[in-house]
Amino acid sequence: MLDKNHPLPLYHQLKQTLRERIEQGEWKPGQRIPSERELCETYRVSRMTVRQAVTELVNENLLWRDQGRGTFVSKPKIQKLLSRLTSFTEDMRARGKQAGARVLRLELAPAKPAVAHALQIAENQPVVLIERLRLADDEPVGIETSHLSFERCEAILHEDLSRSLYELLTSKFGQFPTHAEEQLEAAACSAHEAELLGVRRGTPVLSIKRTTLNQELRPIEYVESTYRGDRYVFYARLSVDHP
Ligand code: GLP
Repeated sequence: MLDKNHPLPLYHQLKQTLRERIEQGEWKPGQRIPSERELCETYRVSRMTVRQAVTELVNENLLWRDQGRGTFVSKPKIQKLLSRLTSFTEDMRARGKQAGARVLRLELAPAKPAVAHALQIAENQPVVLIERLRLADDEPVGIETSHLSFERCEAILHEDLSRSLYELLTSKFGQFPTHAEEQLEAAACSAHEAELLGVRRGTPVLSIKRTTLNQELRPIEYVESTYRGDRYVFYARLSVDHP
């Protein structure tokens, strides 16, 4: 029960209590939590207190509101270690999820300046462009637009890109992604991205640009991707430089 004489405000105590119910697994991801009215009755607090506690948990992405349907426990985010070069498929496999892709575009396209610069080729030189909606257990979590340039890379146009690109590159094309440089930025998703990702326009997303090098340290892939901010958390292990 909440303690009205405690120095912590009631909404804060309620927030802690609700958080515990989620973290201890009493309320599972995807489950609807009791209504505001029910929470008022259970904890003997005002509607304002309940609303404030729930709103803060929504802002922290632990809960989400579905207009008219209620408030639900969010699914845990996909954790991604920044220092390891992995494919989307590997990331999902490590989390026990099924990786998938819906191919939106697969074509030869002239390299725009940023692509040409990253791949160290001339502007407008044709590159293989692959735009894919990435799925985790059939849920859309990101959009990846890869540009490929290496000898005979056009053959990839005839491949099934709903599977892992990196597996294809290594098994069929002798191209092993060994290093990559990545840049992360916060962004608001466009109307087009919002529709594909099934979120509202303007929802926060992570915009990532990656240049991938092969075993000879040649750039073979330049990717622009957009991942749902509510489904991803990136982390890094840091250490001080040794003298
Ligand atoms: C990650 C990278 C992309 C890369 C993709 C390949 O998501 N950010 O740059 O293209 O993996 O994944 P897969 O091998 O599953 O197609």
